[in-house]
Amino acid sequence: MKNFNAITDYSREEIEQLVGLADRLDKHPEPRSLEGKVLSLLFLNRSLRTLASFQASMIRLGGGTFVISPEMSIYGLESRSGIIMDGTAAEHLKEAVPVIASYGDAIGIRAMAKMEDLQQDLQDQAFGELVSHVTTPYVNMESAMEHPCQNLADWKTMNDLGIPGQGGKFVLSWSWHPNPQPLATAVSTLKMAALRGMDITILRPEGYQLPQPVMQTARSLADQSGGSLSESEDRREAMEGAHTLYVNSWSSCEFYSRPQSEDRFKSSLRDWCIDSSWFESAEPDCRFMHCLPIRRGVAALDEVLDSPRSVVIEESRNRMLSQMAVLHRMLSTPEY
Ligand code: CP
Repeated sequence: MKNFNAITDYSREEIEQLVGLADRLDKHPEPRSLEGKVLSLLFLNRSLRTLASFQASMIRLGGGTFVISPEMSIYGLESRSGIIMDGTAAEHLKEAVPVIASYGDAIGIRAMAKMEDLQQDLQDQAFGELVSHVTTPYVNMESAMEHPCQNLADWKTMNDLGIPGQGGKFVLSWSWHPNPQPLATAVSTLKMAALRGMDITILRPEGYQLPQPVMQTARSLADQSGGSLSESEDRREAMEGAHTLYVNSWSSCEFYSRPQSEDRFKSSLRDWCIDSSWFESAEPDCRFMHCLPIRRGVAALDEVLDSPRSVVIEESRNRMLSQMAVLHRMLSTPEY
């Protein structure tokens, strides 16, 4: 494996093999398989799970990591091209990224959406620019449109729970959030469920449609995998027979880069906070999934998060196991 950039770069069979490797490494640890290997971690945005789980993954396989982020004691990173650097930032990513990459055998990069230009974010331009400076293998730790490690962990979580691909009903629901939220998790999760062959309903209020190119890709993936894709604003209808409710907050494409306008628009949508009543028409053991972090009482009530439906902790632990599989595949064989 050269890079791990998007879940849709892999077939269902390849993903199942990675999930199988994650299961094997959980049951039969290999604490020396990446001995002497170093994973460089560049975080241009905050993290709890991704940061901790990548460090834990490398330690469990016998390797090591180092972390660089703009909040550390570094020179301040400039990202704009053609800029005269006479301001605060004293180092450009064009030098910093290859330097950081050169200290490791692979690099993980988190560079979430800037949310200034929807078209640029849809093409993952900023992330593409960053990895163009890297010659080692890289892992996408969340870019403007992709979150493949979360997708792999969620795939594994559904396998663990016996939630089927074909025949499994997957509801991806929008939830209210006080701040503009990137599209990466919703978009990549939609594609993951489509690739898995699930019957997907996107449950969202008017104004929160996902971008058309994303919907086209997801529809095509669902068709090829034997699944389906629909949209609804009606909670009872959308949740009918659901095996899992995957909740995420994402920004409106209509108000992208205009947060104050979106604030006004969504002020009447605060009831898009998941409570127990949302599950009334679902399968009795319908699960609640969320990538975390989640704002309690805002995106979902305690009665949901503290109930047996919630598998958010399992999803997070599966981040570590799935990433162990990716790193094992990437670094334990001399493929590159
Ligand atoms: N789910 C996820 O990526 O969490 P962090 O933002 O804490 O890394």
